[in-house]
Amino acid sequence: MTKNEVRLRYSFRCITEKETEEAIAIEQICFPPNEACSAKSMRTRILAVPELFLVAIDEKLGKIAGFLNGIATNETVFRDEFFSDISLYDPEGQTLMILGLDVIPEYRGQGLATAIMSEYLERAAKMEKKLVLLTCLEDKVNMYKKMGFQDKGMSGSTWGGEQWHEMSYEL
Ligand SMILES: CC(C)(COP(=O)(O)OP(=O)(O)OC[C@H]1O[C@@H](n2cnc3c(N)ncnc32)[C@H](O)[C@@H]1OP(=O)(O)O)[C@@H](O)C(=O)NCCC(=O)NCCS
Repeated sequence: MTKNEVRLRYSFRCITEKETEEAIAIEQICFPPNEACSAKSMRTRILAVPELFLVAIDEKLGKIAGFLNGIATNETVFRDEFFSDISLYDPEGQTLMILGLDVIPEYRGQGLATAIMSEYLERAAKMEKKLVLLTCLEDKVNMYKKMGFQDKGMSGSTWGGEQWHEMSYEL
């Protein structure tokens, strides 16, 4: 899909509290239980940091097709506590730690994740953030490189009992 086609089919905005259960269900579809954000952490995250929780809405159905969420901090190295400890959120922080990128299976393979990331990075730049960090498994390294991220090598993260790369994007 071209950028224009994406704009016609989807709208991008911050999540609303009433979409919490929809987001929890999508997280469970998209990730195995050892990697998924718990329902409790998702509820807390949506309540505390809706401004950094971007959803792509399928305009025809009025439903979430995918989302990207994160929190702000002044730390510059990813650590797993960001997934579960919302008290680490510093609204003034200049680094965004990405905590989840989800696209529902039927919307995959058409550039939606790329479009969500691009919109997220544009918004982050407008918020005057300086750095965006995320962790991913080996098989997603090239996907994030295509989105403009650099591979910083293995991260200290052991989330879900897996080994993760740290990827970074300087704004
Ligand atoms: C990974 C995911 C977000 C991709 O969503 P998508 O909308 O299909 O992605 P895009 O269409 O924007 O793909 C962009 C590029 O990423 C790569 N890519 C897409 N899905 C991929 C996957 N599952 N594994 C590895 N690379 C992938 C492709 O190279 C693709 O480029 P191409 O179309 O030129 O081949 C989606 O499959 C998903 O939600 N998966 C489950 C959750 C997950 O793994 N999230 C990421 C955690 S790090």
